[in-house]
Amino acid sequence: MEKAWWKECVVYQIYPRSFCDSNGDGVGDLNGITGKLGYLKDLGVDVIWLSPVYQSPNDDNGYDISDYQAIMEEFGTMEDFDRMLYTAHEQGLKIMMDLVVNHTSDEHVWFRRSRKSRENPYRDYYIWRDGREGKEPNNWGSCFGGSAWQYDGATDMYYLHLFSRKQPDLNWDNPKVRKEVFEMMTWWCEKGIDGFRMDVISLISKQPQLPDGPVGEGGYGDFSPYVANGPHVHEYLQEMNESVLSKYDLITVGECSGVTVEEAKKYAASSNKELNMVFQFEHMDVDGGEGFKWNHKKMHLPELKAVLSKWQVSLQGKAWNSLYWCNHDQPRIVSRLGDDREEYRELSAKMLGTCLHMMQGTPYIYQGEELGMTNYPFSSMEDFRDIESIHAYQEYTEKGIVKPDDMFDYVRYKSRDNSRTPMQWDDTDNGGFTSGTPWIGVNPNYKTVNVKEQRNRADSVFHYYQKLISLRKQYEIIVYGTYELLLPDHERLYAYTRALGDQKLLTVCNFSEERQNYEPPKEFVEGQAKRLISNYEQVSLEIQMTLRPYEAMVYWL
Ligand code: GLC
Ligand code: CA
Repeated sequence: MEKAWWKECVVYQIYPRSFCDSNGDGVGDLNGITGKLGYLKDLGVDVIWLSPVYQSPNDDNGYDISDYQAIMEEFGTMEDFDRMLYTAHEQGLKIMMDLVVNHTSDEHVWFRRSRKSRENPYRDYYIWRDGREGKEPNNWGSCFGGSAWQYDGATDMYYLHLFSRKQPDLNWDNPKVRKEVFEMMTWWCEKGIDGFRMDVISLISKQPQLPDGPVGEGGYGDFSPYVANGPHVHEYLQEMNESVLSKYDLITVGECSGVTVEEAKKYAASSNKELNMVFQFEHMDVDGGEGFKWNHKKMHLPELKAVLSKWQVSLQGKAWNSLYWCNHDQPRIVSRLGDDREEYRELSAKMLGTCLHMMQGTPYIYQGEELGMTNYPFSSMEDFRDIESIHAYQEYTEKGIVKPDDMFDYVRYKSRDNSRTPMQWDDTDNGGFTSGTPWIGVNPNYKTVNVKEQRNRADSVFHYYQKLISLRKQYEIIVYGTYELLLPDHERLYAYTRALGDQKLLTVCNFSEERQNYEPPKEFVEGQAKRLISNYEQVSLEIQMTLRPYEAMVYWL
């Protein structure tokens, strides 16, 4: 397999709003990030993915951009950005920007011009349609509730917005749009940034007829069949690769909702004419997914194993995987697939880290995951800031689809705000995140769950992650080895091997609080395999062994 630095690195995602506030206004900022680069260096990561820091009216916390070449005032200035980039580079850290180009903000100058008249040269930058008998052009619902169409009185037409009505979709079929986007990307590359994480990039090419979609729970049609991995998406990404990406040494990852293994092989082919890798969602769907998100469905381990293993095996040698449990759109993994009760929080956080980090692909760590940060104990709808959670609650309860108490429970458990509460730095007020009033509540467990405490304690989740990262740098097999699942039907244990040349690696994880009997492959026991990491002290590999609650171990031969 061809080697590449972006296959060997570990990425850390920062949600700037919630990372570190340097000036006491309650909102994280760029100077806050610059001040914490040493922390990330110490953790051992190589690349920082910054969620959007561009100018934005913040309808969706920066994912609605009104100027791609300016910094959000709350976050600082372009000089602050340059200083952050320079300081990061000095320490050997790379910066990957979030590229949100499926849509802009409705306050972007392109859209302000576009909506003025049907003849405006910018009209075709967006997707405008006439109404159908005085109603929306088709039945599509938006991801954040309501119709995906917004009527605009000035020209008596509707514009398409797959997300909020303040996020109109760009028309990628217009070559001028592509040219503008590529020029903007080049501008950032010339500044010296090191890569792009591309927001919902699988949605940029829509089927031109925009047909009605199958009607779902909320009464709206699903746009995905006509939008996800649409007709020209690969063509446009190849064009992007040729005009921009191929000219720089970048790391690129496309957020690809609705992506299948077959599609991923095109987006992230080893021949690399599009992207380095994609974020797929199938393993996030095992407890409901986007289409059926608001529920309490429990993950069934054999299903999770089947999904992850399919991706591991199918992309082997053909494309490259990204590995993630968490990001700013997902609840905290320790509360979701682990166990956030104090007794098991650290054990299960370490177990989940082990399970993911020993796979093939580039691992992504989301801020606080390296501490085992948990979901937030929301006590009322007032606690939420996220547009998706707030709208979903309103829509589902008003339409009587879900009872308010149940819906509150679901939102509490699955809301994106669970991951957006401030980073917990120490046990001082607001977890050391801000000296002011934080824009969203700090998890009250900051008194015990925080960076300071964990950096001072050898057996903390932080040090465990540090070790997982350093093992990846030491053992090539963790990066490049082939993957094989053991015990596919076991309901509690996740065990797999990796192989590279004559080396082998065994990873075993107990996903439950019950003890599990286990018989490791004989060769590891007989060959006296070396233990690389484990989340309990006193571990040994035996022909007949019992794994303790949430126990995880890795052996190398
Ligand atoms: C992506 C982002 C999410 C955002 C949406 C619209 O899914 O990760 O946070 O709300 O796109 O830009
Ligand atoms: Ca601030």
